[in-house]
Amino acid sequence: MSNIRLLSDELINQIAAGEVVERPASVVKELVENSLDAGANKIDIEIQDGGRKLIRIVDNGGGMNREDAQLAFSRHATSKISSLTDLHKINTLGFRGEALPSIASVSKIEMVTKIKPDEIGTQIRIESGELLSVKDSPANQGTMFTVWDLFFSTPARRKFLKSQLTETRHIIDMVTNFALSFPEVTFNLKIDNRELIEVKSSETLPQRISSLLGVDVFKRLIQIPPEDSLIKISGYVARPELSKSSRTDIRFFVDKRSISNRSLLHALTSAYGDMLTKGRFPLAIIFLEVPADLVDVNVHPQKLEVRFQDERAAHDLLYRAVKKALDREFTAVVRQTMSATPSYEISHSSGLPLKEKTAQYHTSFEVNPSALTEILAASGGVSEQSRTESAVQPNFYQVFSTYIVTQAHEQLLIVDQHAAHERVLYEQILGSLQTDTLSSSQKLLFPETAELDPTQLNLLQFNLKPLEKLGFEIQPLGGRTVLISALPAIAKHGSVRFLKEVLQEFEEQQKRGKDQRTALASALACKAAVKAGDALSIPEMQSLLKNLLSLDTPQVCPHGRPTLIRIPIAELERRFGRS
Ligand SMILES: Nc1ncnc2c1ncn2[C@@H]1O[C@H](COP(=O)(O)OP(=O)(O)OP(=O)(O)O)[C@@H](O)[C@H]1O
Ligand SMILES: [Mg+2]
Repeated sequence: MSNIRLLSDELINQIAAGEVVERPASVVKELVENSLDAGANKIDIEIQDGGRKLIRIVDNGGGMNREDAQLAFSRHATSKISSLTDLHKINTLGFRGEALPSIASVSKIEMVTKIKPDEIGTQIRIESGELLSVKDSPANQGTMFTVWDLFFSTPARRKFLKSQLTETRHIIDMVTNFALSFPEVTFNLKIDNRELIEVKSSETLPQRISSLLGVDVFKRLIQIPPEDSLIKISGYVARPELSKSSRTDIRFFVDKRSISNRSLLHALTSAYGDMLTKGRFPLAIIFLEVPADLVDVNVHPQKLEVRFQDERAAHDLLYRAVKKALDREFTAVVRQTMSATPSYEISHSSGLPLKEKTAQYHTSFEVNPSALTEILAASGGVSEQSRTESAVQPNFYQVFSTYIVTQAHEQLLIVDQHAAHERVLYEQILGSLQTDTLSSSQKLLFPETAELDPTQLNLLQFNLKPLEKLGFEIQPLGGRTVLISALPAIAKHGSVRFLKEVLQEFEEQQKRGKDQRTALASALACKAAVKAGDALSIPEMQSLLKNLLSLDTPQVCPHGRPTLIRIPIAELERRFGRS
């Protein structure tokens, strides 16, 4: 008897589902792609419980007749290609004929569809790959898919799903990509009965970007100038100030398909060069129009990658296009500055924000000499002997509006003011979150309304309670609008901007795997802390150092950067040849 046997269709589909349907967002991707391939110009998406409970996609595309509707769920059934030649010039998003059978094998699914000439539509119900019913159904032209209880029959996969917030975020991201790539299509995304994305087919790409990513983001974008080449590149790259520590804001589209590609990523970051510090990534929305025979889209089961016939050429073209866009912008800024400022001041420019000189340097201002001695002793940095020996009068200097320099016990101490303050605030905030105490709050005299982007609103809704604990008072109004009536007492500036900055940083921290409390504490600490460029008074510097050195681990900021550097006098003496 042979050991080898043919697998059942059901098992084959479930295995394929393992590759194609990774999470609820993959179902949204496959179904929206089908709607777009069917020529829809309006797609409504509804999600409940991060897509676990319900995913519904309604389109006004061509629809299917009864025969096609039944065939659509068979494995390798597709209307999009029929020969090998077609495979080499694909102009649809789907072509493998495996999305529907895969989704149907791991969920409960209903499809209602109708083509224009038919009076009545077809309703099909399938559960775990098993056909339950095929019926007549009243319907508009187009197709409606409803997917319930994703992975209900594959508990192992269901267990791997992340939190509702994370799964919802993936879906928002997916729909955002479609909405950016298909500005001619109306998209509505309703999450747990709340409209998060509503974009109309009449919008231009700039309007879409403003609506999906925020007007503040759009204002900081630089358009990529058009070039006449075989591969056409268009889109936007952001000024370096919008950089992030993750790649999540980099969006590449090849022939309208959202993809990731290491070589394009390399070209993009290389074009920024020194404008970005190590470990930072820009925001970019880049469209490549590549002739179908110069790119292979059949290299990844979820079609998240493509292969260029000439990878190097695509890389170099993108590099040049982005570099040109950035160079142009940079030249324009320099020209503006030159016409506004006398030239001798420019020659002193160090790339740091210009500040009043008096605010930058605080010379020889005596402070309480015992304060620092005590602080350093408490932090374990000083011996009892040197404590008594050292009757230094520590002076505090602020240099480059960024560092605090002082002396202590035969050491030169250089403190990064932002990192240090961030560390201090982080400990305080984490403490109050852990002990469940309310942080002090400042009521706004005039409550302000803010229009949040879909991701921010989603994040806010899942974290209203802890944000309130930190001193925010925020009330969701209709749509994506919220009312801010109080901020944490430590907030530095304008309420709307502050809230958005905190939410953005919070999201980044969570994406890097931090838990809710830690992510929230680092986000608020980072945004409330003094920045490089902020002038500090002597008492402020003194108090910052005192607070920093009273912590258990004062040496690193929540991001892992050092807060202070100590240079022993012996090291200075060695370098000056005194020893
Ligand atoms: N919303 C829709 N409107 C009209 N026809 C559809 C729709 N969704 C699916 N179909 C039809 O069902 C077929 C099967 O869909 P399915 O997604 O499984 O495969 P595909 O899109 O051809 O390839 P892929 O697996 O790469 O997505 C499609 O080829 C298309 O003819
Ligand atoms: Mg498909």
